[in-house]
Amino acid sequence: MTYQGLIQRYGQYLDLPAHTKIISLLEGNTPLIPMPRLSRELGCELFIKFEGLNPTGSFKDRGMTAAISEAVGRGAQTVICASTGNTAASAAAYAARAGVRSIVLIPEGKVAAGKLAGAIAYGAEVIQIQGSFDDALSLVVEITQKTPIALVNSINPYRIEGQKTGAFEICDVLGSAPDWLCLPVGNAGNITSYWAGFKQYQKGLPRVLGVQAAGAAPLVLGHPVEKPETIATAIRIGRPARGEQALEAAQESNGRIIAVSDEEILSTQKILAAEGVWVEPASAAGLAGLLAESAVGKFEAKGKKVVVVCTGHGMKDPAVITDSFKSPKVIPASYDALVELVGA
Ligand code: F0G
Repeated sequence: MTYQGLIQRYGQYLDLPAHTKIISLLEGNTPLIPMPRLSRELGCELFIKFEGLNPTGSFKDRGMTAAISEAVGRGAQTVICASTGNTAASAAAYAARAGVRSIVLIPEGKVAAGKLAGAIAYGAEVIQIQGSFDDALSLVVEITQKTPIALVNSINPYRIEGQKTGAFEICDVLGSAPDWLCLPVGNAGNITSYWAGFKQYQKGLPRVLGVQAAGAAPLVLGHPVEKPETIATAIRIGRPARGEQALEAAQESNGRIIAVSDEEILSTQKILAAEGVWVEPASAAGLAGLLAESAVGKFEAKGKKVVVVCTGHGMKDPAVITDSFKSPKVIPASYDALVELVGA
């Protein structure tokens, strides 16, 4: 049978109510890409779970198929979310597919171009908030408590159900859980989902390395961050809704949550691109964390299988790349000029 999306594939493992009406864009089934050069350098067997290859370019589609399928199945006509961008694009796409209205609240001026364009293209009503993601989340929680609008942020338990499938896929491809799972942490829905997924699937448990950006690292600092700031705008979050569960996942798995600088995030983005995998800045945080731990001797690599989850595609945030480069050279449209330049 051809692939029919995550709820068809893994629905038996997902706690979704009977009224769920499947809305799918054939999300999931993303590749686990071996990284031979990095593996040699680190002395482990390293794979990238490339979530940028989901229909809207990020891992959010895994949870969104579940959340929208449930909401639409019970008759919701409008869905809403707060977002740093990827959730917005994903909610907009699945709402469009279902034929319902979507409203997305984003922090003014802090959402990468590819995400904003996606949300608009899929037909969301986009509202900018003069405030942070955390402020936007408080607002959508309030409006969904007082009106029939359905909340599709990862506070919604069905988002977590859907996102567990990332762990299932990794176990199915490797035959068992890896030794380590590394991933970025923002609002902490994804780390919560992976840990729940591995526990449920019973193919072994990884140690979990959660990685925050240093300017937005409430789980490392142990207190909320009022004005989070980082180039990795996807994880520019100061009060993670599932922070407690993220800390539990790190502790139960004998892993940890650490922070990396924006410089480390950007240099790791380049390292990944140099092996053919272009991810958005936040998505490089997981590997940046692993490299940092390895550099200070805190990562026992030998013989270990490591999966790094790269949560969103590089095309989501083109400005991070283009702003740091001069425009490409311009030459006359002549063969001589070309040969002179390339030196062949
Ligand atoms: N990576 C990317 C690319 C993201 O967009 C996000 C979160 C994360 C990592 C962190 O995941 O929140 O589950 O810990 N983006 C949300 C959004 C907040 O609105 O798109 P998390």
